[in-house]
Amino acid sequence: MTNIDINKFQRKIAITGGAGFIGSNLLLYMVPKYNQYLFINIDRLTYAGNLSNLKTIENSPNYRFEKIDIGDFNALKLCFEKYHLDGVIHLAAESHVDRSIIGPAEFIQTNIVGTFNLLELARKRHEETDNFRFHHVSTDEVFGSLGESGHFKENSPYNPSSPYSASKASSDHLVNAYHKTYGLDVVTTNCSNNYGPYQFPEKLIPLMIRNACAALPLPVYGDGGHIRDWLHVEDHCRALDLVFHAGKTGQTYNIGGHNEIRNIELVKMICGILDDILGGGPRENLITFVKDRPGHDRRYAISASYIANELGWQPQYSFNDGLRKTIIWYIENKKWLENCINGEYLKYYAMNYSNR
Ligand SMILES: NC(=O)c1ccc[n+]([C@@H]2O[C@H](COP(=O)([O-])OP(=O)(O)OC[C@H]3O[C@@H](n4cnc5c(N)ncnc54)[C@H](O)[C@@H]3O)[C@@H](O)[C@H]2O)c1
Repeated sequence: MTNIDINKFQRKIAITGGAGFIGSNLLLYMVPKYNQYLFINIDRLTYAGNLSNLKTIENSPNYRFEKIDIGDFNALKLCFEKYHLDGVIHLAAESHVDRSIIGPAEFIQTNIVGTFNLLELARKRHEETDNFRFHHVSTDEVFGSLGESGHFKENSPYNPSSPYSASKASSDHLVNAYHKTYGLDVVTTNCSNNYGPYQFPEKLIPLMIRNACAALPLPVYGDGGHIRDWLHVEDHCRALDLVFHAGKTGQTYNIGGHNEIRNIELVKMICGILDDILGGGPRENLITFVKDRPGHDRRYAISASYIANELGWQPQYSFNDGLRKTIIWYIENKKWLENCINGEYLKYYAMNYSNR
């Protein structure tokens, strides 16, 4: 890797978790768009991190990768000093609810302690430079479950159900506290379920596509009546770009796709699209109801009217088009999908668990 003159860049922005699903999509979107910025991808490369996602930008002059565990304060500190960072978009996290039920410790360590480490270093940079911004990327799951009606708003009470959502809620509170206590310039975004390319196939949509293509059972939790709101990852990336640049300091923004759908209907849609593209089927016959996840939230739905009114953001994908495009991507990138499933533990997961 050649030496770079960091001073020639207008901003030096770390994207944590840049080798994961949303992080890679964000880097693929931001690096070519902002060639006046230097982007530093900070990622530990857990099972969910995959540098091959970033092949098209890996040699860009405004991109660098640093393999760092955000739990390692000293390594992070060296990185902050090396690049004189003036922004962080923080996505690194343990992100799978099922894993958090089986092993919560990693979630506490990465999602809470890791965020705390970043905030401590951000606080120091805030004292040294005027224009440091910390953008915390979070989830609608911090709000818990909704009944049949209503939507999560920015001021909805926190009521997390799983160790995952509780760890994200803790990190949201820490971020907010650093704004109130130290005046750190922060923005937080709480987003609904994302879908699109490069999502690890333990999550509902890529898991169902993979299993349906391989004629494996399609495990659906409980009665399949759980409702999620789905957003295409590119729409999320556009929202993150807007909030990072134009969001009000200390403000949280809800981001959602206005696409509420029951898990069982979604799985049937995936089967229908696959039958249409590949022939054969009906793949719906592969659906297998499995014992529900403990603490499984029944319904999430986001009101994204604040970000629409304040920043003019609207999702651009219709769910039908976005889902079809996503399915085609996984069919064309079968090797990527299969490379993810590289251990017995993961194979066990793919067979036994489904819905995020
Ligand atoms: N996927 C969704 O639907 C969704 C929705 C709303 C919010 N979010 C949030 O967005 C962020 C990204 O989600 P995702 O789906 O891309 O997750 P992901 O699991 O696909 O990727 C997480 C990335 O973080 C990295 N990572 C994990 N632990 C780390 C550590 N200790 N140090 C450094 N890097 C580490 C992994 O290697 C991976 O590259 C998360 O904070 C998640 O809570 C996700």
